[in-house]
Amino acid sequence: MTKSVLITGASRGLGAALARQFAARGYKLALTARRSADLDALRQELLDQAAEVCIEALDVTNFDAVTAVIQDCARQLGGLDIVIANAGVAISAPSGKGHFEHMRNTIDVNLTGAIATSEAALELFRQQGRGQLVGITSVAALRGMRGHGAYSASKAGFSKYLEAVRCETFNEPIVVTELAPGYIDTDLNRAMDSRPFLVSAEKGTKIMADLIERQVGFRYVPPWPWTLVAQVLKLLPISILRKM
Ligand SMILES: NC(=O)c1ccc[n+]([C@@H]2O[C@H](COP(=O)([O-])OP(=O)(O)OC[C@H]3O[C@@H](n4cnc5c(N)ncnc54)[C@H](OP(=O)(O)O)[C@@H]3O)[C@@H](O)[C@H]2O)c1
Repeated sequence: MTKSVLITGASRGLGAALARQFAARGYKLALTARRSADLDALRQELLDQAAEVCIEALDVTNFDAVTAVIQDCARQLGGLDIVIANAGVAISAPSGKGHFEHMRNTIDVNLTGAIATSEAALELFRQQGRGQLVGITSVAALRGMRGHGAYSASKAGFSKYLEAVRCETFNEPIVVTELAPGYIDTDLNRAMDSRPFLVSAEKGTKIMADLIERQVGFRYVPPWPWTLVAQVLKLLPISILRKM
């Protein structure tokens, strides 16, 4: 049976590249983001490959709208097998320098918006009796990264939420997958001075789509070298971490 996947933040970056990956694999797609024109262009591009493509404008900080959009996409596609909570922002915001609004928006999108998406997905999966929730976190969840305190906090928070969901759904036909990318080439990180072990969006999202299809619990992306680097990152003293 043709599988279906809903992606938040699908207008560009990893979300759009993931849509291309799943379209090439013949999935039905539900693509959401704020920029409808970009979604519409992506839909036109993918119509030949994907089994079906529906698009819906969705700002994940409009928490009340999230459930309605996910239910509506499920109705259009005859259910959803996979929901990917991908929408995210990463704005450099050093602490104590007047960036509170940026920080609050980061938490609203990356943590509260991602939880709103996950809650709506889980409700749907329990109605359907199946489903896979995929959360996109980050290696930045491991430590508080200089200039990105709210970003690290949002990703660490979402990661812990996903772990709790995995405990709660242990005996249910629901899979919970967390993917924690390192540096994948998108607008999100193009302005950064350093992007170690950078991979292209095409390569990064091929790895992500493969991991999602294998229904893994947790992986860094790409797994090599980040699985090893993460162990080192966890142990770094502040005197070194502060220079990264
Ligand atoms: N690229 C990396 O190396 C990397 C590393 C670690 C983690 N990640 C995570 O991967 C995810 C995707 O990042 P990316 O690199 O693809 O970033 P990106 O190129 O900046 O794209 C971000 C996407 O999120 C959407 N978005 C932003 N705010 C939104 C909101 N309020 N409601 C709904 N959608 C919203 C944007 O669409 P609209 O503007 O149209 O709404 C866009 O489609 C994020 O969660 C990010 O933290 C990325």
